[in-house]
Amino acid sequence: MRLLAFLSLLALVLQETGTASLPRKERKRREEQMPREGDSFEVLPLRNDVLNPDNYGEVIDLSNYEELTDYGDQLPEVKVTSLAPATSISPAKSTTAPGTPSSNPTMTRPTTAGLLLSSQPNHGLPTCLVCVCLGSSVYCDDIDLEDIPPLPRRTAYLYARFNRISRIRAEDFKGLTKLKRIDLSNNLISSIDNDAFRLLHALQDLILPENQLEALPVLPSGIEFLDVRLNRLQSSGIQPAAFRAMEKLQFLYLSDNLLDSIPGPLPLSLRSVHLQNNLIETMQRDVFCDPEEHKHTRRQLEDIRLDGNPINLSLFPSAYFCLPRLPIGRFT
Ligand SMILES: *[C@@H]1O[C@H](CO)[C@@H](O)[C@H](O)[C@H]1NC(C)=O
Repeated sequence: MRLLAFLSLLALVLQETGTASLPRKERKRREEQMPREGDSFEVLPLRNDVLNPDNYGEVIDLSNYEELTDYGDQLPEVKVTSLAPATSISPAKSTTAPGTPSSNPTMTRPTTAGLLLSSQPNHGLPTCLVCVCLGSSVYCDDIDLEDIPPLPRRTAYLYARFNRISRIRAEDFKGLTKLKRIDLSNNLISSIDNDAFRLLHALQDLILPENQLEALPVLPSGIEFLDVRLNRLQSSGIQPAAFRAMEKLQFLYLSDNLLDSIPGPLPLSLRSVHLQNNLIETMQRDVFCDPEEHKHTRRQLEDIRLDGNPINLSLFPSAYFCLPRLPIGRFT
């Protein structure tokens, strides 16, 4: 009898400790995953939930993400030691701070951006001191930039979100043939020289939402992901057949602009075209489907958004036969 009582007490105690320790373990596990203060995680592109298509997360340079977690602890040290030789450092090279093993990318905090940028115009600008350069990625978010800074030749990923850049010049990306992604979300860009992106043959993702663009420049044909949401794009600002040669284009996000027509012809590679909240009133019957070819030629294009436009989609019943799904929008 006493043994039985002891056993049930033991069971109770075990149950208690078991449940009590569970949340603690869970909490600890979460804490370990959380960035610590000073880790500079705010520069990472991983929180861009709003504009993520299915694969946007997959193409993020995860190797760099790991590097960043590795070097978090060294941040304060590097910051202090690497600021001194600012004037002599060429921005085209990856700089290595004294005391940091040479294989490490330089980590600096972008806190001195305003100072350095205003005192050192144009060449000689130590981009990797005001921005964070990690491998082939350059992070320049939210440091009051007014221009694209000179970039290291090997730059493949550029993030310069939340700045005050108003213009992109033809020479800004000249010779940066390794660039795969340019993210200039949330700037004041109202003009882009026509040649600014044209020769960037490696460019896959061009991300320009929340700017003031009325027109698009010539785009390189390798682009897979084009995001120009929340600008002032007009149909006259998009060249006729601007997207036709872009045979890798999968995501075309042009919502919340001033377009009054659907820009066509659209490449067959498209999976997603967002045109909601524009001024589209009508459409060409062949903008999606080729009336000559009675086939389901657009199996990929599953996501067409035309809601928030004055168009009555019921008026174009013959425009959708090749699509796997009807567009989203007003049908009555
Ligand atoms: C939209 O078009 C359909 C088909 O012609 C028509 O029946 C409907 O009344 C139209 N709706 C509006 C709001 O104009």
